[in-house]
Order: sequence, then structure tokens, then C-alpha cells
Amino acid sequence: MAVRKQEVTGGTHTAPKMADLADRHELYEESVQCVEEECEFITHTFQKIRGRVPASLREDFCGTASACCEWVRQSPGHTAIGVDYDSEVLAWGRKNRIERLSEEQQSRIQLIESDVLDVQAKAVDAVGAFNFSYFIFQRREVMLQYFRSVHEALVTDGIFFLDAFGGYEAFEEMKEKTKYDNFTYIWEQASYAPVTGEMTCYIHFKFPDGSKMKRAFEYTWRLWTLPELLEMLTEVGFRNPTVYWEGTDEDGEGDGVFTPDGKGEADAGWIAYLVAEK
Ligand SMILES: C[S@@+](CC[C@H](N)C(=O)[O-])C[C@H]1O[C@@H](n2cnc3c(N)ncnc32)[C@H](O)[C@@H]1O
Repeated sequence: MAVRKQEVTGGTHTAPKMADLADRHELYEESVQCVEEECEFITHTFQKIRGRVPASLREDFCGTASACCEWVRQSPGHTAIGVDYDSEVLAWGRKNRIERLSEEQQSRIQLIESDVLDVQAKAVDAVGAFNFSYFIFQRREVMLQYFRSVHEALVTDGIFFLDAFGGYEAFEEMKEKTKYDNFTYIWEQASYAPVTGEMTCYIHFKFPDGSKMKRAFEYTWRLWTLPELLEMLTEVGFRNPTVYWEGTDEDGEGDGVFTPDGKGEADAGWIAYLVAEK
């Protein structure tokens, strides 16, 4: 997942600083990912649409394969395939996530080191591509190639699950800080080119002792819009591609409940799921 090595600043010559001791994959998972919610959304939505529980998942751009681990924990009938082309992150996931499962659970996960565009794997009930990883495909014909390959990788009643982000702040060059117990997560939208749609983003981490892990992760993406994505999903043969929009609580904050929505709202920043049926 990382395209950069850990770049640590603020350390002294003597005692290691918090940034030296921290693990960027652990920090990433704590601040960015919620695999329980992803798996719950896939299961609940699939069941509602198809009337059965999905058993097999392919997690594309799997990184540390945490969603695969969460998936196989659900029942002895659940299987998962994780696909990522970065051997470093796969090795980290194997050692720090998969090996913590029981042997029986481990036997139901297959990790494949491959570009998702080329991967050869068994057909599955659901394919998930989360945290916007597929925005790496900047050209329309490459995105179509990816969507087409996912369509082929699904069983006859399979479903493709993705997420997307947007809102008017998504087009800004900005930094946003979020405080966690032992670190601050910094999301930087470093550049955005309106003509191509290309954006470069970084994740940095800052620690209470003043040390920093700069550019722990870097992403060069095209900021796709929902209508473009829905049109491409339709074009490759998905039926009824639908955006699931997040509801709000009494304070107007996102409530984590996503429901089908044909319009959405002109929020400053939103995250939504896309659900596309084979
Ligand atoms: C943003 S991280 C996503 C990690 C995790 N799945 C999540 O939801 O947070 C993107 C991951 O996609 C992988 N990746 C990027 N392009 C890829 C491709 N074409 N094929 C396979 N993996 C790719 C990177 O190595 C990285 O681990």
C-alpha cells in the first residue's frame, strides 16, 4: 500500500522518538479503515438484494488483508481472496493479521500478489474495492477494463462493492488533522489538476513528542465523480449500479447508515458506497 518508505523527522540522536517506534500500517488501519463496517455492509446489502448470505469475497487492493481476516471470522463457510501487487504490504498482513487467525481460518484465505487487472482467481459472490484504491486507474479505458474483469470474476448473482469520496472540499488543496489517542492523522490533498482530474494525496502522522512520520502513504489518483462511475459500471454490463448515501444523526453528522439514493446532497465532503449487480 505504501509507495514511500517511512520518512521520520524530529528524532534525536539518543532515545527513539514515537515516530521511530510506530508502525505505519497499524496507524493506517486505526485511522482509515473499518473492515467490520465494510463486511457488515457487504453482507447486509447482498442479503437484501439476493435473499442469501454471501460466502466468498475477493478483496481487491487488499493491502494488509484485514477485510479478508474479518470476512473469514464470520463462519466456517466464509472464504476470502486478497489481491495486491505490493509484496511488502502482503508480507506485513500475512505476519501481523493472517497468522493471528486460527489455522482453520487461515486455510480459508488466499493472498494473491498481482495487479488486479491481471488476476486469475476463482469466481466469488462479492468483490470489494475500498478506500478509493481503484481511483489509481486514471484513464477511462483502464477503469472499464478493471470493471469488466470484476464483472467476469463474479458468480452469476454476484455483486461488486466500491466506495467513492467527493464534495466541493475534495477538489481543494488542503490539510485536515484528526486527533487519535496516541497520534494525529493528517490527510493532505497536495495537488489537484482540474484539466486531468489528477490529485496527489499524502497521509502523515504526528506524535505527542513532536516527532512526525511524513508522507507515510502517497496516492496519485483521478478524482472520479459518481455519474462517471455509474456510467462506466453500466457500460460493462453491471445491472442497476446504485449509490448508497450516508444518513445523518440529530447533529447533522454521518450516522454510518447507507441507503440507496438517486440524488445525494451537495455536502462539503462525503463518502458513499457503490453497489453494482452482475
Ligand atoms: C489505499 S490502499 C488500500 C488498502 C485497503 N484495502 C483499504 O481499504 O484501506 C491501496 C492498495 O492498493 C494496492 N494497489 C494499487 N494499485 C494496484 C493494482 N493495480 N493492483 C493491485 N494492487 C494495487 C497498493 O499496493 C495498496 O496496498
